[in-house]
Amino acid sequence: MIGIEEVKARGLPYHVAIIMDGNGRWAKRRGLVRTAGHQAGAQAAERLIRFVVRQLGLKYLTLFTFSVENWDRPAAEVDFLMDLLERFISEKLQEFISEGVHLCVSGDVKGLPVRVRETVARAIGETAKNDRLYLNIALNYGSRQEIVRACQVIARAVQLGELDLKLLDSKAFSKFLYSKDIPDPDLIIRTSGEMRLSNFLLWQAAYSELYFTDTLWPDFAPEELLSAIAVYQERDRRFGAVPGEK
Ligand code: IPE
Ligand code: IPE
Ligand code: MG
Repeated sequence: MIGIEEVKARGLPYHVAIIMDGNGRWAKRRGLVRTAGHQAGAQAAERLIRFVVRQLGLKYLTLFTFSVENWDRPAAEVDFLMDLLERFISEKLQEFISEGVHLCVSGDVKGLPVRVRETVARAIGETAKNDRLYLNIALNYGSRQEIVRACQVIARAVQLGELDLKLLDSKAFSKFLYSKDIPDPDLIIRTSGEMRLSNFLLWQAAYSELYFTDTLWPDFAPEELLSAIAVYQERDRRFGAVPGEK
């Protein structure tokens, strides 16, 4: 097992994004209800955030928490997830404030229950000056919806004569996404053995390194983040070029 100091010395990725999957299967294997898996998943998230802030020192961490497609789950599960999320953010807020965590959200916040929306808005406001870790929660998030929304805003701006279409390149386009202030993820991790992106950061993942693990999210320990980063550090990121030659 690789040590934290070694991983840090090799150079950390700037932005790690995680698809936290497998809560339901974790619960099922223990004969528990799915919501018990979500509860355990929240604890795993708490443990990981603490590790990242207090020990590892990443600058950006994105956690996929609830997708636009997740509304298709049974109402009781969706309600539980919303309550859990609201409680998680309100209970952690003081710690975030004192430890320098800057909370941001990618997703359609307006589509969330009012209580969740208010808690999220409060947490964003009260952590706005922090800059130790940018913790980006992908919440009511869908990447296709994010891209379509950007196109709508762009089309309107062009219609109103506020934007010159000729100036729209991929860099300018990215400023219309939820992630406008966040660098693209260097590393995307998905737990639970699924090898798909499930509508997560499709634009931003263009040159991300992908890491898949069979570990179910509630079992994902900080040591496994170190292993994932160690694998990432061995990758050769070429971005389409031939290294060393121009
Ligand atoms: C991830 O775990 C949590 C959310 C998607 C909200 P799942 O609930 O998807 O767990 P599995 O995939 O059914 O095991
Ligand atoms: C992706 O997991 C969404 C989150 C982790 C929040 P899902 O469990 O919803 O994805 P699928 O349905 O397996 O593709
Ligand atoms: Mg799942």
